[in-house]
Amino acid sequence: MTTASLSLDGKNYELPVITGSEGEVGIDIGKLRGASGAITLDPAFTSTGACTSAITFIDGDKGILRYRGYPIEQLAEKSDFIEVAWLLLYGELPTPEQLAKFRAQLTYHSMIHEDMKKFFEGFPNNAHPMAILSAMVASLSTYYPETETEENPDENIVRLIAKVRTLATYAYKKSIGQPMTYPQNKLRYCENFLHMMFAVPCEEYKANPVMVKALNMLLILHADHEQNCSTSTVRMVGSSRANIFASISAGICALWGPLHGGANQAVLEMLEMIQKDGGDYNKWVMKAKDKDDSFRLMGFGHRVYKNFDPRATILRKMSDEVLKELGINDPLLEIAKNLEKVALEDEYFVSRKLYPNVDFYSGILYRAMGIPTNMFTVMFSIGRLPGWLAHWKELRDEDSRIYRPRQIYTGATERDFVPMEARG
Ligand code: SDX
Repeated sequence: MTTASLSLDGKNYELPVITGSEGEVGIDIGKLRGASGAITLDPAFTSTGACTSAITFIDGDKGILRYRGYPIEQLAEKSDFIEVAWLLLYGELPTPEQLAKFRAQLTYHSMIHEDMKKFFEGFPNNAHPMAILSAMVASLSTYYPETETEENPDENIVRLIAKVRTLATYAYKKSIGQPMTYPQNKLRYCENFLHMMFAVPCEEYKANPVMVKALNMLLILHADHEQNCSTSTVRMVGSSRANIFASISAGICALWGPLHGGANQAVLEMLEMIQKDGGDYNKWVMKAKDKDDSFRLMGFGHRVYKNFDPRATILRKMSDEVLKELGINDPLLEIAKNLEKVALEDEYFVSRKLYPNVDFYSGILYRAMGIPTNMFTVMFSIGRLPGWLAHWKELRDEDSRIYRPRQIYTGATERDFVPMEARG
């Protein structure tokens, strides 16, 4: 199948068709406007591809997610977040030497300029950490104005992955009035993050290995998800050749929305609300189905997955295991499981193919690790950062044109200016 035929106003147009490595079919409409004067219209991009990409493959009907061809289930069980970050960025699993060098670079770049600590003083104590993170990431460009240098074009990619933990934990420490904790060079990525989050000067802190392993898996599960809202935002901003920090800061802002990465915070708040309301999850499932009720079952539904979200399946299992290992009995987990059971047996959800997504269980795990609810989407940002950077790099390496969608104008047609005295 190499072309698709379009008939418009009695004329026929042959449009090239491309087929991806997994058999996905795309009709290339790049020359349609020039040939016919018409454009296609797809406001939420439900049937529109913005690009070709070799990074992540999702099959929403089969519940498949693979990073560079490797199934998410295998990576979550056998890999490490920094190894996955390398895989997403460079397309292959790193050699031992490449991984060791990458880890050393992340350690070397984990501190932020001491002057940046002053930036945090200006934020109110109750500032949302996503606002702080996006502002601080954009501010990194004032210290590193060159997006890429000849000798090391990926240095700022390393800086961002290294420093995002420091910025995130500084935002948290500021919010609870504790001194910021510097990164420890002897600690690996996830353990270093937990140390910066929870260590205090007055006592020794050693991260629980169960939490380190759980965090590593959580970050792997969030690392990329092809052209989701925030990744498309990073590509959009990157396509104007804005610097890498501005592109990632924009991605953080897009992820913040409760329909996207902000859903993990919204799920926890929903579960707490149901618990406070007496735990009657059937009542809330009914409200979620009621078209006249604005309540939605947060953490449910997905634009692509019309079967289970493989990440949710892994996270549900992880929630049981990690809470048991940590000796935590969280009533919110039972409410979540009951909500899921009732919804998956209800025609409203079944007919709309609404299943739990990555955000439904992740908050239970973050909460078990002692991470506050308003930091959940920051955790999503830390996990998604290698994916955002891989897509930014792919766009840079293919020298992509600026993203500039068209529109169909529906406003007033031409009319003359009306002087003030003549207005009614
Ligand atoms: C993420 O794109 C990605 O890959 C994102 C992500 C990633 O890794 O980057 O996977 C991460 O963002 C996961 C999604 C997190 N968001 C939520 O959990 C918020 C709750 N879910 C929804 O708002 C919704 O399901 C979306 C935003 C996820 C998807 O929105 P769509 O594809 O535009 O679907 P829709 O809103 O058009 O819903 C279709 C129907 C509607 O009913 P009808 O008009 O057909 O009668 O399903 C209903 C919706 O009302 N519906 C829900 C629902 N989600 C959809 N009804 C109740 N509760 C819900 N959660």
